[in-house]
Amino acid sequence: MTDVVSYALEGTVGVIRVNNPPVNALSHGVRSGIANALTTAAQDGSEAVVILCEGRTFIAGADITEFGKPPKAPYLPDLLNQLDNHPKLTVAAIHGTALGGGFETALSCNYRVALASAKVGLPEVKLGLLPGAGGTQRTPRLAGVATSIELMTSGNPISAEAALQKGLIDHIATDNLAEEAIAYAKRLVADQAPQRQASAITLALDEADRELISKARSTLAKKTRGESAPQRIIDCIEASAELDFDAGLKRERELFMACMEDPQSAALRHMFFAERAAAKIDGIDTSAEPTEVKRVGIIGAGTMGGGIAMCFAQAGVQVTLIDMSDEAVAAGISKIKTNYDISVKRGRLSLDQVEAIMSQIKPSTHFEDLADADMVIEAVFENLAVKKEVFARLDTICKQDAVLASNTSYQSIDDIAAATSRPESVLGMHFFSPANVMKLLEVVKGDKSSDRVIATAMAVGKRIGKTSVLSGMCYGFIGNRMLRPYAREAALCMMEGASPSQIDAAMENWGMAMGPLAVGDLAGLDIGYKAREQLSDEQKGDPASYRVADRLVEAGRLGQKSGAGYYRYDPETRQRMADPEVDAIIDTCRDELGIVARTVSDEEIVDRLILALANEGARILDEGIAQRASDIDVVYCYGYGFPRHRGGPMHFVQARGLTWAVQRMTEFQQNLHQDNWPIASLIADSAERGEAL
Ligand code: 3HC
Ligand code: NAI
Repeated sequence: MTDVVSYALEGTVGVIRVNNPPVNALSHGVRSGIANALTTAAQDGSEAVVILCEGRTFIAGADITEFGKPPKAPYLPDLLNQLDNHPKLTVAAIHGTALGGGFETALSCNYRVALASAKVGLPEVKLGLLPGAGGTQRTPRLAGVATSIELMTSGNPISAEAALQKGLIDHIATDNLAEEAIAYAKRLVADQAPQRQASAITLALDEADRELISKARSTLAKKTRGESAPQRIIDCIEASAELDFDAGLKRERELFMACMEDPQSAALRHMFFAERAAAKIDGIDTSAEPTEVKRVGIIGAGTMGGGIAMCFAQAGVQVTLIDMSDEAVAAGISKIKTNYDISVKRGRLSLDQVEAIMSQIKPSTHFEDLADADMVIEAVFENLAVKKEVFARLDTICKQDAVLASNTSYQSIDDIAAATSRPESVLGMHFFSPANVMKLLEVVKGDKSSDRVIATAMAVGKRIGKTSVLSGMCYGFIGNRMLRPYAREAALCMMEGASPSQIDAAMENWGMAMGPLAVGDLAGLDIGYKAREQLSDEQKGDPASYRVADRLVEAGRLGQKSGAGYYRYDPETRQRMADPEVDAIIDTCRDELGIVARTVSDEEIVDRLILALANEGARILDEGIAQRASDIDVVYCYGYGFPRHRGGPMHFVQARGLTWAVQRMTEFQQNLHQDNWPIASLIADSAERGEAL
């Protein structure tokens, strides 16, 4: 049919085989191949048609690389109508993951058979889209409103068994999918089974359905704030009951096209490829085989060490968790246990699972217990002397091929590595707090870190479910370095006239998970205060950028942990509340520095903070600290609560226009603090040449 689709009669069954590695995406070749095969099957001696796939999975969706390019016939909705109305009985044979357009293909068949290990789902929402080939109309007709809302607005796949229960598949195959699907098709023909079409079902909404829909709308408005695809999915589900099938398809198409043209989808598609690109390391020696990590040592059972231990134990890796005293290590273990107790209470884990995980973690106060560890991650106090002492000891104890990693936020990996006789085995593995929750892992390459240790850290990151990004060495690495100008602009907006609540609300309404001042309160204002104590006045920069923070700490307002920082916190609910005392502190600081308050618009706040991020990001890229602009986007979306539907700071600024960025920063240079806005040459040059970053 085409080189990616074949068709053959096997007895009385016409078998369409798709073979388009890696995931059998519905590229133009696949669509044409299936269309041709269906035409042939309509006219030959087949009594039934089975669609199955070679390789690791059933069709995993439309070909995302074709989005944004001129569409080529046959279009998927037309192809699936051809399948739906086929004169022969049709069966989809599913293994791996039938996703998006792939699952919509299966839903357009009369029957669906799946291996027990298979999963099915409609993940389009994760790309800022909705199922656009009949999925929004066929799913509710087969499985009802509740299942459709869950499947399409979460985008998460479900198991074959769950799909069977919900009426989305009809039969589970036990072993040889192709043989069993063909036999199943023959049996259906022999039994004169009807050619069931989801499209022929009429759906009526009852009171409970209507309530579900209205609840989903309001829940999604909060949970997926600012995103348009989830609400459009609900519109489609409503249409599946209110309109006939053809009119419903038409409505789906309109809303699908609206999603496709929405910058949100471009941003989310960018993130899809950015996440996958981040796993790739340019210029690495491909013979650098990662070391297999079966045993890991973690030093420091505090906030970070405990969370990191959880990540490894959950992935089945044996952990030795070390601290200075029995009390310290016991406190660390107890904190881990408390976290798991909460998971059990919430039904996320069973008691048996927690017991199995906890049995992976061995507490200790002896570094000698790390002699057989394949990897050691240090998470002791953020103090270079202490870290160097720890690494010097590890050097005498650990086996020669062990990977020695530091979770430092700011210290130089090269200085730490110099404390050992094997700097090539040392690198940074920078987790984010809470380490068991946050997806980001910055893998920090020291000057001498070998390809093997980098490959090992990246592989380990994947194994424990992290999204890893490689960073070169600089103060704060990629993420925290960018945070400095961002936090500076937040502080300056406040000094110039915006209240903490206005700044945080402006950023949160724009899409940030949490505003910058609320984040400061969460992390603890004393951390920055202590860090500033070690800096000269020149290094600290403009006093307006930290005066209020200093005064808050000096007044005992350390943030959430002391019940007050930029806000007051309700002791029960932790709800933040604006505090007149803070306004008074800000006023005093303004007077001291001779600043007269003015009106700062939300738009100015957003532009200043986001451009501060992107401008520093461009410098990081230019210096070769980040491998690619999209890696920086991954860091911000996974580590700093940047909205994925805006695509990360680099994508956002690029999509908005580099010329706009240069103009706006030039205005800031003229109207604000000139020194704070040296436009990154990469942005200026790329804008001038009309090129991407
Ligand atoms: N189109 C194009 N390329 C795709 C693709 C797709 N739908 N899905 C995956 N790929 C590519 C990846 O970019 C990657 O390429 P690379 O090797 O060059 O980096 C390669 O296939 C392998 O992908 P993964 O690394 O993600 O492999 P995994 O085995 O970890 O995961 C998967 C496989 C679960 C299928 C995962 O790739 C996935 O979730 N894919 C996206 C599925 C999806 O979103 N489908 C819906 C598409 S939109 C749609 O169908 C619209 C329709 O309603 C009209
Ligand atoms: P923490 O103070 O909660 O824990 C540090 C632990 O290390 C303490 O239990 C302490 O007893 C132990 N320790 C200190 N010296 C030791 C030694 N010589 N041998 C054995 N144990 C020793 O600190 P936290 O927050 O967990 O930070 C640890 C590291 O992680 C720091 O480098 C920090 O910069 C970094 N980090 C912290 C983040 C955070 O949000 N807290 C985020 C990312 C990195």
